[in-house]
Amino acid sequence: MKASLKEELIKARNGKYAVPAFNFDNLEMMKGIIEAAEEQKSPVILMVTESAAKYMGIDNVFAFAMDATEKSNVPIILHWDHGFDIELIKRAIDCGFSSVMLDSSLKPFDENVKETQEIVAYAKAKGVEVESEIGHVGGKEDDRDSKSNGYTDVNEAIEFDKLTQIDALAIAVGTSHGLFKGEIKLQFDLIEEIRSKIETPLVLHGSSQVPLEDLQKAIDLGITKINIGTDLKIACAQGLKDWFEKNPSGFDARQYGRNAINFVKEEAIKKIIAFRSNNKA
Ligand code: 13P
Repeated sequence: MKASLKEELIKARNGKYAVPAFNFDNLEMMKGIIEAAEEQKSPVILMVTESAAKYMGIDNVFAFAMDATEKSNVPIILHWDHGFDIELIKRAIDCGFSSVMLDSSLKPFDENVKETQEIVAYAKAKGVEVESEIGHVGGKEDDRDSKSNGYTDVNEAIEFDKLTQIDALAIAVGTSHGLFKGEIKLQFDLIEEIRSKIETPLVLHGSSQVPLEDLQKAIDLGITKINIGTDLKIACAQGLKDWFEKNPSGFDARQYGRNAINFVKEEAIKKIIAFRSNNKA
């Protein structure tokens, strides 16, 4: 069933769990995520990036993901992740996505505020919720590579939150996107301080490959949305490799696809249980 991002994140904060936010790039990944959420009775955020939407076709992706959302018995939020292109974000809003993220975090503060305000005004008029980022989580993000520009500044975050009236705030606290993160040192004190000063639900990007105990500690301190992309891509690829190793001359897309779904599902279940969102639907 379709659900509200902010409502689910506030429930998570009160219940001391986080809602898993998983990226999908194809139908197999989407099915694995939804099957995991349904089996574990977990709310889930289904995320598509710009390049994933271009790969699948934005109207196709919306059609099959929204159909699956509406038919599901768990709360699902269909989310546009890392929007860099304002026109594409507006298209996602017009299409009917439940929430969108604008990522202008590498731009100067005033520009980030202005662009976020523009998206909030456009989205709110259509009942769509908005996430934006302050401070920059670097790494391999969608098709771009960037460096982190340090951690989120608390005062900037307070000001940004006040000026933009967003529904979820992504902060830079020591993670980065992609497979190769170098040393991961989550800034727990910073999460705690931001949480004590900002009511808007907090989002952790770049959470693949981060030890689950660290993510659990981050949840205890107030993170309510945890983004996972790379770990599910790895699972999908492993599912395919595993199937072809066992069936070297096989060619049935439904059979190798099913194995990819199973691997994605298993990985998603591990995260759901670690984030304690099971049985919260
Ligand atoms: P990872 O690929 O590092 O999990 O990051 C995903 C992400 O933050 C998507 O917004």
